[in-house]
Amino acid sequence: MTRRRQIYEGKAKILYEGPEPGTIIQYFKDDATAFNAEKKGTINGKGVINNRISEHVFTRLAQIGIPTHFIRRLNMREQLVRQVEIIPIEVVVRNVAAGSICKRLGLEEGVQLPHTLIEYYFKDDALGDPLVSEEHIACFNWASPEEMQDMASMAIRINDFMAGMFAGIDIRLVDFKLEFGRIFDGDYSRVILADEISPDGCRLWDIKSGEKLDKDRFRRDLGGEEEAYQEVARRLGLLNGEDNGPGEVLDMDAHRGRMRGKSPKPTK
Ligand code: TMP
Ligand code: ASP
Repeated sequence: MTRRRQIYEGKAKILYEGPEPGTIIQYFKDDATAFNAEKKGTINGKGVINNRISEHVFTRLAQIGIPTHFIRRLNMREQLVRQVEIIPIEVVVRNVAAGSICKRLGLEEGVQLPHTLIEYYFKDDALGDPLVSEEHIACFNWASPEEMQDMASMAIRINDFMAGMFAGIDIRLVDFKLEFGRIFDGDYSRVILADEISPDGCRLWDIKSGEKLDKDRFRRDLGGEEEAYQEVARRLGLLNGEDNGPGEVLDMDAHRGRMRGKSPKPTK
């Protein structure tokens, strides 16, 4: 059996060559980083949960007509996706003031914004992903005006859908980050949603208590990050056999039992 080729290792995922041309396997790690990888750690079981949450969200988004890279989940930590050329822009959608916007503009965390804000960050770790304007994006040709239009309109539709989905399980969707990629068809290219949507890249607060159910638990040393990620999966109906679709049941206790004593490295 040949070992598959690793294409890229990021902070939270590893990408491998897929079984067919134009496909990629995304392997979800338990590694967590914050503040541009100044802070590093692990959240046990995070990769398994994010794989499942992202599958769920991307599948639901496809059902409302958002084109995505997701093809299917392969196993507990891996999913098959379409290969794209990642657009080097992180699209952040904010409904409520939190995180960097509070620091930058002196806002109080938790204040509802007058309307939904879209921000763009240039994806460059060495520069610490700086906030940029549409003018910068056009000037340096990181994305075309048509691509910007497509990303913005998809971001708004995704926000409307996800805000409703999370409100239905008593979670306030504070903000989140999206990444998009290009797929090519002859001389033409189009933009589809890529990367992942999980508590790593969203702020999710319990509607009643305000409790944080996302990576801010890790970023801010609040503790309980494993439980928070599991709680999001549980409320989405993804734990213990509900709405599991193809593949195995996401039973974290059984998974821990199987993983005990084994290397967490992907095998093939
Ligand atoms: P921020 O408040 O730090 O700018 O983050 C806004 C949202 O985007 C938050 O939900 C976390 C997410 N995010 C990422 O997923 N990756 C990143 O590199 C950054 C800066 C933010
Ligand atoms: N910026 C990412 C986050 O905090 C991770 C990192 O910067 O290392 O979500």
